[in-house]
Amino acid sequence: PSSPPVALRGRVITFRASPFEVAPSESLLIEEDGLVLLRDGKIIAAGPAATLRETLPPDTEIISYGDSLISAGFIDTHVHYPQLPVIASWGEQLLEWLERYVFPAEAAFADPEIAKDTAKRFMTELLRVGTTTAAVYCTVHAHSVDAFLAESARIGTRMIAGKVLMDRNAPDALRDTVKQGYDDSQTLIERWHGNGRQLYAVTPRFAITSTPEQLEAAGDLLRTRPDVFMQTHLAENTDEIEAVRRLYPDRSSYLDVYDHAGLVRPRSIFGHAIHVGETEFCRCHETGAALSHCPTSNLFLGSGAFRLFDALDPRRPVRVGLGTDIGAGTSLSQLRTMGEAYKVALMTGHRLHAAQALWLATAGAARSLHLGETIGTVAPGFEADLCILDPRATPLLTYRTERCESMEELLFVLMTLGDERCVRATWSDGRCVYDRDSNTFA
Ligand code: GUN
Ligand code: ZN
Repeated sequence: PSSPPVALRGRVITFRASPFEVAPSESLLIEEDGLVLLRDGKIIAAGPAATLRETLPPDTEIISYGDSLISAGFIDTHVHYPQLPVIASWGEQLLEWLERYVFPAEAAFADPEIAKDTAKRFMTELLRVGTTTAAVYCTVHAHSVDAFLAESARIGTRMIAGKVLMDRNAPDALRDTVKQGYDDSQTLIERWHGNGRQLYAVTPRFAITSTPEQLEAAGDLLRTRPDVFMQTHLAENTDEIEAVRRLYPDRSSYLDVYDHAGLVRPRSIFGHAIHVGETEFCRCHETGAALSHCPTSNLFLGSGAFRLFDALDPRRPVRVGLGTDIGAGTSLSQLRTMGEAYKVALMTGHRLHAAQALWLATAGAARSLHLGETIGTVAPGFEADLCILDPRATPLLTYRTERCESMEELLFVLMTLGDERCVRATWSDGRCVYDRDSNTFA
């Protein structure tokens, strides 16, 4: 049975092209008084309210968001839900931080109730920041995937998640074996991949915690399932890179460790990729693999500055999306992440335009995941995942945005000063799943 149609009224903002391929101001499609018509989880129409209003089905409910922006829901291409309890943990860089904070937190997921509670809290936080799709690491425990994707299915969000594979260099309680990891992943793929909106990612944590045999097994899984995702970490930290060199002396680079196992392919998502060169960028370009830029995490752990504009070099552009990388990241908000991406870009000598930042958090992220025809854009035929952004969420934002002379300036102020307080509502699968002012969640 068809659900009654709903139309959202506000300032619709989306992309007609990539702001890295055309001038940023020309990439934006802005409807100052727009309507977005939703039905059965899809966007049916989007355009000027003045003309669209005439054509609405008679039973359409209209929800007016005033001067708030109606954008595609945010897409987070790299995040760890089990690390929510250790966000903001002091004093360490990557490898020591994993040992001291992350592994104990993930070990607690042996208890399925902890997995369920954390999944619920994490999904609530995602809706609060306007994120409707994320590529999510679970723990080594298969039930950590069930807990997370069951909660996503209940809400109706489109999530990508996977069981972490680790068969060495991790505490006993967090290690699987090549066979156990393969079998669990296979079972989870059958249970979840393409089950409603849920998708699966084969998830070897990184080269340090998997034997070459486990990476090969991950490659075997993916060869039979080209539609399944793969996510891992790449070249985040110099000590990590040195350890990988020692563990894989025959491989020509960190990326080559994964490539050798068949893990560099469309729907592969490599987190960080800070310390990589031209060869790696070329290889990602030609294979369709994606990089996830995680600026708040890279600053928090002192990992380094991702070379975004080198990755996106138009001669061989690499697919890139933004990631929050909680618990090393310091906010689940994509507005915050966009703001920090601007600062990291400046550190590498480039000016990230607000439209470019928003693209990396929506349509560009979707494209990086090979979901660019499905999510990330406000246009007919796309899935109805939306985020409503309030330019007057705080007194300072009101004061500053009143002075904005263009949508691009407004976007830049939002990404510099804004965070979850600006998210007035989140829509997923055509339903309102979060409303800030009534504090209601799906
Ligand atoms: N490298 C391997 N595991 C992790 C992790 O959990 N977080 C981050 N930031 N890097 C990693
Ligand atoms: Zn990570």
